[in-house]
Amino acid sequence: MHSTPATLAADRAHVLHALHHPSAYSSTRTWVRGSGAIITDDTGREYIDGLAGLWCVNVGHGRTELAQAAFAQMSQLAYHSTYAGSTNRPAIALAEKLSTLTHPSINTFFFTSGGAEATESSIKTARFFWKASGFPDKVKIISRRRAYHGLTLAAMSATGLGAFWPMFEPRVPGFVHIDAPDPYRFVNDNADVTVGVSAGNQLEDAIAREGADTVAAFIAEPIQGAGGVIVPPSDYFARVREICDRYGVLLIADEVITGFGRTGRWFGLEHYAIAPDIMQFAKGITSGYVPMGGMGVSDRVREALDSVPPSKRWMHAYTYSGHPTCAAVALTNIQILENERLIERAAVSGRRLLSRLHSLESVDGVGHVRGQGLIAAVEVVADKHTKESYPADVGLSHRLTEALLERGLYTRVVLDCICLAPPLTIDDALLDRAVDIIGETIPQVLRGL
Ligand SMILES: Cc1ncc(COP(=O)(O)O)c(C=O)c1O
Repeated sequence: MHSTPATLAADRAHVLHALHHPSAYSSTRTWVRGSGAIITDDTGREYIDGLAGLWCVNVGHGRTELAQAAFAQMSQLAYHSTYAGSTNRPAIALAEKLSTLTHPSINTFFFTSGGAEATESSIKTARFFWKASGFPDKVKIISRRRAYHGLTLAAMSATGLGAFWPMFEPRVPGFVHIDAPDPYRFVNDNADVTVGVSAGNQLEDAIAREGADTVAAFIAEPIQGAGGVIVPPSDYFARVREICDRYGVLLIADEVITGFGRTGRWFGLEHYAIAPDIMQFAKGITSGYVPMGGMGVSDRVREALDSVPPSKRWMHAYTYSGHPTCAAVALTNIQILENERLIERAAVSGRRLLSRLHSLESVDGVGHVRGQGLIAAVEVVADKHTKESYPADVGLSHRLTEALLERGLYTRVVLDCICLAPPLTIDDALLDRAVDIIGETIPQVLRGL
């Protein structure tokens, strides 16, 4: 059934949408159904969900197993607190399961309602770690340009996409940004080392500038998602880990998008064969069916948490930490990922996706194609040789988003990068169709500029 004008008027009047602006309401679509990798609007039109909602519906839409898991847990105990001294079985089982899936040194987990709360938790825990270890001045956080870590105030300050800042300034002090390790755009001013090492070296420079005795942590997405899907060179994170170890800086891996199979491994950092001190996750842990995020900490960090007297305890908490219903859904979601071998499937489908996307490189305007598993992007540029982008006032990202939708592909286009992160269950035919739509849409939009 179509949304009536009255329903849309009520939406406009009463719902403050994420990234609100009145100009964005003219083409509102009302989503009513999802099945696998297909979403349906209220006119009955079907679209390929090229972004798994917001990079989260890893097991695909319409999974009644997850609804049943929520129903069963809600019927028994929908909610109770996990403040120290209280616990519940789904939260215990989930933490125990995660300890088998994550790096061997990560065995303790804290749960939140989403990714930004996970970022806050990681940052506060890094500061706590250093205070508990006798270094109270190690408080600064280094992150990267084009990073996205969420939009609560500290997470927004770690986020390296400037568009999110101006109307909410001042940012939290003590946040510093270095360049993204973007193989397409990174300017390597040291011909003696690779782009990966050179980008990593920026961390060392930043630590030197700020003073190692003031820096608590470096936070990084293994693959930067919302900044346009930036896949770092293979030697980048080894260099980062080396620098963190040398200067006593914790490494926080933000696996909010890359966790739970998205990249063809359980967690994105596995591609780089190093372990973080803190890892955070959200989205794919429940495939977005219920809100949940969290962080895992290394045994060394856990020891510091345990080492302080009660008066200095880790005074950090959320009402919904360890929410039993969310934990029950997460456990069933992980079972689906395992039973259907969706991690392996993401790796295989991802190779197909990337090779199809590479075939678009000859299309006018396609500057760069990249991806890892089922996360990928096509960057559109004004000049392939100089890599110059279209001026912002052209509004290319918006035009592309709308034109892709018109052809039946729902996704986000950020900084002129068409992002793709479909459900891991997507079949080859739909994946190929998504690539065809992108190949048809880019020339059409560029002709209209
Ligand atoms: C890498 C990363 N970290 C953190 C967040 C914030 O998560 P949330 O929107 O659940 O607060 C996101 C959201 O897209 C993300 O991509």
